[in-house]
Amino acid sequence: MSIRQASVTAPVNIATLKYWGKRDKNLNLPTNSSISVTLSQRDLRTLTTASASPTFAEDKLWLNNKPESLDTPRTQACLADLRALRLQLEESDPQLAPMSTWKLHIVSENNFPTAAGLASSAAGFAALIYAVAKLYELPQSHTELSKIARRGSGSACRSLFGGFVAWEMGSQTDGSDSQAVEVAPLEHWPSLRAAILVVSDAKKDTPSTSGMQLTVQTSDLFQRRIEDVVPRRFDEMKKAIVAKDFAKFAELTMKDSNQFHATCLDSYPPIFYLNDTSRRIIKLVEQVNADGVVAAYTFDAGPNAVIYYDEKDESKVLGEIYKYFSGVDGWNGKKFDDVAEEQIPGVSRVILTSIGGGPQVTSESLIDEAGLPKSAKSV
Ligand code: DP6
Repeated sequence: MSIRQASVTAPVNIATLKYWGKRDKNLNLPTNSSISVTLSQRDLRTLTTASASPTFAEDKLWLNNKPESLDTPRTQACLADLRALRLQLEESDPQLAPMSTWKLHIVSENNFPTAAGLASSAAGFAALIYAVAKLYELPQSHTELSKIARRGSGSACRSLFGGFVAWEMGSQTDGSDSQAVEVAPLEHWPSLRAAILVVSDAKKDTPSTSGMQLTVQTSDLFQRRIEDVVPRRFDEMKKAIVAKDFAKFAELTMKDSNQFHATCLDSYPPIFYLNDTSRRIIKLVEQVNADGVVAAYTFDAGPNAVIYYDEKDESKVLGEIYKYFSGVDGWNGKKFDDVAEEQIPGVSRVILTSIGGGPQVTSESLIDEAGLPKSAKSV
């Protein structure tokens, strides 16, 4: 039985200039450009094996050991784009296996708990697109593939690169110039670190897709943001990254997180992603920065905090965080002297990680000889 397969890993990225708002829902085109830092796959990554065979009866997906539907408009759009590119190759070389007509079995796993509430869709879609592209031996660049990942989930397009990444919003109505590009590789600033404070929150507010639609429709502040603020910040942030100007990078990152959450609050009815713990973390970072900016917080569509800092300031930044969160999991044996009597409640764990590289091909496969998930639980 002929089964072809390819396995890849893809990283999580956390935006420092936020994507929030769509100008085209179907093509997933944003109302503004955005910038992110790719995080290390040692700590956070999705591993995906894509396989194709003439013997498979239907397209199938298993996610974290559970069968998942591939029948969503977004996933279908991605698979149709990838198959169209494969068909082009087959038409130019009749020797190639007609994989574009074969069904796919895709198995995917995260190395971090989904329960942590960390955005896994970016790594998930990036891994899916990259795995199928490798399986199909597509010659397209990462920027070209990012346009396909974008249709799965906007932020996923930025996970096609390591280091610092920009998603250029583009101006074409067909989305042909709405794509991810590298601002600077991991090697440019390898000492950048990230501490993620996983904030426990039972009830989830609005999912990002519907949240951003509401903001576009109802927030006046949002108009100001996309017309004036973001275009300016986009250039400033790229410059700060190229110059490795942490203070400027941090100021822009924090202001942008604040403004994104302000547009959520300005939506009607308002959307609340930050909670009391998130706000105490903001105050704590301000305390760390009292005599010079060495840490930058940012929050996505939830209460978890991501704090960026440079390795040289580790004892200052982590020392201060440890003071208030020494009791939670994830310090990996790191210890600091000061522990505050009153700990800040509401954080379940810390994840200490760093800037990382882009997607990679791996020999680790999640699929057995029959084309099914290796893990017994998965079937
Ligand atoms: C707050 O990429 O999850 O994390 O395109 O609808 O899938 P869809 O949205 P998604 O939104 C991410 C929003 C954000 C900011 C960001 O990552 O830039």
